[in-house]
Amino acid sequence: MSLRIGFIGTGGIAGHHLRTLAQLPDATLAAFCDVVPSKARAAADTYGGKAYGDFRQMFDSEHLDAVYICLPPFAHGEPELEALGRGLPIFVEKPVATTADAADQIQAAIEEAGLISAVGYHWRYMDLTARARERLAGQEVGFALGSWAGGMPGVSWWRVMEQSGGQIVEQTTHIFDLARYLLGEVRSVHAACRTGLMKEVEHYNVHDATVTNLSFASGAIASITSACMLGTGGHVGLDLYLKDQVLRLDHRYLTVEKSEGKEIFYLGNNPTFDEDAAFLKAVQSGDPSGIRCPYAEAVKTLKLTLAATRSASENRVINL
Ligand SMILES: NC(=O)c1ccc[n+]([C@@H]2O[C@H](COP(=O)([O-])OP(=O)(O)OC[C@H]3O[C@@H](n4cnc5c(N)ncnc54)[C@H](O)[C@@H]3O)[C@@H](O)[C@H]2O)c1
Repeated sequence: MSLRIGFIGTGGIAGHHLRTLAQLPDATLAAFCDVVPSKARAAADTYGGKAYGDFRQMFDSEHLDAVYICLPPFAHGEPELEALGRGLPIFVEKPVATTADAADQIQAAIEEAGLISAVGYHWRYMDLTARARERLAGQEVGFALGSWAGGMPGVSWWRVMEQSGGQIVEQTTHIFDLARYLLGEVRSVHAACRTGLMKEVEHYNVHDATVTNLSFASGAIASITSACMLGTGGHVGLDLYLKDQVLRLDHRYLTVEKSEGKEIFYLGNNPTFDEDAAFLKAVQSGDPSGIRCPYAEAVKTLKLTLAATRSASENRVINL
């Protein structure tokens, strides 16, 4: 049975999921909602279905089987609670909120309703990540070095701390989540930040660059850098240092270096395609086991990134 899908938020990342879902026979793109009505209409014109300017009106008028929530971080809350209240499984783009309270409230509603949830941490779906996990099984990691260095995304909300949460919460969250996925839970965090390099950008109050040191429950340690002032782009990935072995993972390849030589693996799958297919399959079957990032996992990553951001602003260690 093809699932009737609704979208709340039809901006950049929604377009990515729409192009993917349009290739999947199990998805019917039924309804689109955006506070900018022309954006919802553009999606409806391209994919069929109806356009709405208000999500409650969309829910009242449509018989949906699941909802994609592709909103800026500050806009989460009511859309999820309304969808869950109407018995609809949710796929939510990261980060799931800008506050732990908002995310906890949504997680409680998911548990109460017993509904399927998924969050768009697509690095978890890369075949390279699965291979890295295989290689790490039974091994102890000494330390990890992660990075998300690049330019500032153009959307207006991104540069405003109160709206995006800042780069650690909004973007480097992929690397923090990957570190959690591969190394387990974090015990304490200390971060330092740099500001003052982006004076020409109006309404800008996020950190320009941060360095976050993490201590994991396993004994491993990590340092993750973020930078948004690099128009040229920079390194995005996570390197893992074991005894006599280094794994380097980014969104294109994984290398495994040992004294006897180096192996290189190239990305062999489309992680967004696999992430969307896993969500549809879980909704159809009622079995969530194929979902690699249910909402509860994303809440843990949100709490870690909020703590890192607070640590950078206040220059103190935060125990989790
Ligand atoms: N997984 C990834 O790699 C990835 C990549 C890009 C973006 N994202 C995430 O997706 C989210 C959205 O990013 P984007 O780039 O699509 O932003 P965007 O600004 O392009 O799109 C957001 C859309 O939501 C609409 N909107 C805002 N409030 C609304 C509301 N209350 N009801 C309905 N529509 C509303 C806006 O008008 C806009 O069209 C962010 O959290 C971002 O981090 C994830």
